[in-house]
Amino acid sequence: MTTINGKYILLTGGSRGIGPIIAEVLVARGAHIALAARSEEGLKAAATNLSKFGTQTLIVPVDLSQTSQQQALIETVLNKFGRIDILINNAGLETEGAYLDLSWEEIQKTVEVNLLAPMALTYHVLPQMLEQKEGHIVNIASVAAKIGAPYAATYCGTKAGLSEWTRGLRLELEGSGVHFSTILPGYITEVGMFARFNLKSPVSLGSTTPKQVARAVVKAIEKDKLEMFVNSSPARLLSVACELSPSLGDWLKKVMGVVDFQRKKVENGSKLSL
Ligand SMILES: NC(=O)c1ccc[n+]([C@@H]2O[C@H](COP(=O)([O-])OP(=O)(O)OC[C@H]3O[C@@H](n4cnc5c(N)ncnc54)[C@H](OP(=O)(O)O)[C@@H]3O)[C@@H](O)[C@H]2O)c1
Repeated sequence: MTTINGKYILLTGGSRGIGPIIAEVLVARGAHIALAARSEEGLKAAATNLSKFGTQTLIVPVDLSQTSQQQALIETVLNKFGRIDILINNAGLETEGAYLDLSWEEIQKTVEVNLLAPMALTYHVLPQMLEQKEGHIVNIASVAAKIGAPYAATYCGTKAGLSEWTRGLRLELEGSGVHFSTILPGYITEVGMFARFNLKSPVSLGSTTPKQVARAVVKAIEKDKLEMFVNSSPARLLSVACELSPSLGDWLKKVMGVVDFQRKKVENGSKLSL
């Protein structure tokens, strides 16, 4: 079991949504944390909230869609903290809408932030983790990784890529001391990209709270879990069906209301700006 107390963590997406809640749960367990995102104001607010715990907090404004800023982020944190024990790739964009209604720039940016940035940050932090023979990379994917959903094809593609990439690297580096986990949340209530739609998810698709996601991150680190599915059971069964039989999975998506719900989100003016 890996303890979180005293660990140096880099968390992306630390300015708003579930990031600050994951940060609080980790810092309450004694972790030092670097928060990264574009909004300096959001990062400052999140860091101020963490000051009551008395551990080290660092904020690093960064645009993860810019390749040049990805390596610089790791270098900045290593320079300030001296080490990174845990990297949590949480920053993400939900680019929803009919595929051809999206600009190519939006699609490209989604792939950059959701998939290429986690790959790049991991690439730049791995040498240090391998040298210290200790480290953990936690990737916040989504149930969408397992359930290709209409009007969110690009998002689903990035999350599926993230989870399969994690599985591959985990096996490749088994025994090295560096561990890998993927968190697969369903629709998250209260804060974050789904909560901003102001829609209630159908019972068949379930939901989860930000605290449940944060607790899953803790469990993944402490117990070295490959994947943590954080959602009510119907969506979990759907994801299993999608893996066992893609055509059955597609039929279930229609019957369980995934297709209708996704269409409703788009009709609600759900195409989010980047
Ligand atoms: N909410 C859900 O229902 C749900 C469900 C499943 C999975 N997830 C996943 O959970 C993670 C967090 O989602 P959330 O709901 O908290 O989303 P959110 O409220 O939209 O927050 C996204 C975070 O990512 C950061 N970010 C976005 N673009 C960035 C960029 N170019 N460079 C650096 N940082 C960037 C944002 O900060 P700035 O804007 O300040 O840059 C913010 O901190 C995502 O990976 C998402 O896919 C969410």
